[in-house]
Amino acid sequence: MLVLGIESSCDETAAAVVEDGIRVLSDVVSSQVAIHARYGGVVPEVASRQHLLQIVPVLEGALAKAEVTLDAIDVVAVTQGPGLMGSLMVGVNTAKAIAYARDLPLVGVHHLEGHTYAAWLGGTDPAVDPGFPLIVLIASGAHTDLIVMRGHGDYEVVGRTRDDAAGEAFDKAGRILGLGYPGGPVVQRTAEGITPSFKLPRAWLGDSLDFSFSGLKTAVLHKAQELGVYPAPEAGADATLVADIAAAFQDAVVDVIATKAIAAVKRYGAKGLVLGGGVSANGPLREACRQAPVPVIIPAPKLCTDNGSMIGAAGYYRFIRGVTHGMALDATPSLALG
Ligand SMILES: Nc1ncnc2c1ncn2[C@@H]1O[C@H](COP(=O)(O)OP(=O)(O)OP(=O)(O)O)[C@@H](O)[C@H]1O
Ligand SMILES: [Mg+2]
Repeated sequence: MLVLGIESSCDETAAAVVEDGIRVLSDVVSSQVAIHARYGGVVPEVASRQHLLQIVPVLEGALAKAEVTLDAIDVVAVTQGPGLMGSLMVGVNTAKAIAYARDLPLVGVHHLEGHTYAAWLGGTDPAVDPGFPLIVLIASGAHTDLIVMRGHGDYEVVGRTRDDAAGEAFDKAGRILGLGYPGGPVVQRTAEGITPSFKLPRAWLGDSLDFSFSGLKTAVLHKAQELGVYPAPEAGADATLVADIAAAFQDAVVDVIATKAIAAVKRYGAKGLVLGGGVSANGPLREACRQAPVPVIIPAPKLCTDNGSMIGAAGYYRFIRGVTHGMALDATPSLALG
């Protein structure tokens, strides 16, 4: 069964053709990162206009790379939410138009369910090996969630961020340190091979599985002021100091996320740990999570950030358990998982 997966919830216009929920036949992503970089973050109006420009070429590219036409597609899956309203609308309305014109089933997908199902695209089926229940860690631009997944479509969120998301924290740290946007990849590169000379605070929040990163962001700011690398130094920051702070910041984020993810595995007797979301592309986080006492499934870095394949995979599993949406499907910016 071929599913056309469409994703446009934030600043990536993406489409993919996925076979039987596990094989990627094509995956095309048009990123707007360079456009938003000059503003230091995503500008919603700019994002939705850019999606309008990109959606048709991206779809055509995905079909061409899979060497199929719409005739071969069995199901259209699209991110319904959460995300930016204007951005979501472009994908949802495009998917509805294709489904209507071709008389195809239409499946709306929760964006985080999409990030979860990226783990199904790595060649093994996590539902079989290691099997449910799984702990899913979604660490992305807008979320840091720990989810108990007891079966396909069966989710219980047991930990979430109380303020900033992990990706947001990376982006803010990147901005404070003058490293640019998005912060995640550049902070990781800057911190590479550095053992920080100091420790930044971790918010453990007792034995809660929730997260808090706003205190860490403030600590980064104070440290950057103290070491004279913020506000942006005119003559160029001392690269060693910036790298020191970047490494201390990354250590703190990775320590808290990996420790809580592993605690969740133990607390809920999970058979495996699944990672998803853009921050799961982070090398040290991937390494730290591999210390879990169960199998750890981490998608390839390019499947951690937004893409159409994960929506195609999640859409397939929704479809085979009987979930479809008619033309009433609507973009839902604050859609709940479940
Ligand atoms: N190597 C990395 N290390 C840390 N963070 C990273 C890395 N690569 C990407 N990120 C972060 O991932 C985030 C983007 O991830 P993603 O595309 O999944 O988020 P989003 O789709 O905007 O948010 P959400 O999925 O919560 O709606 C950015 O905040 C970026 O800084
Ligand atoms: Mg995302």
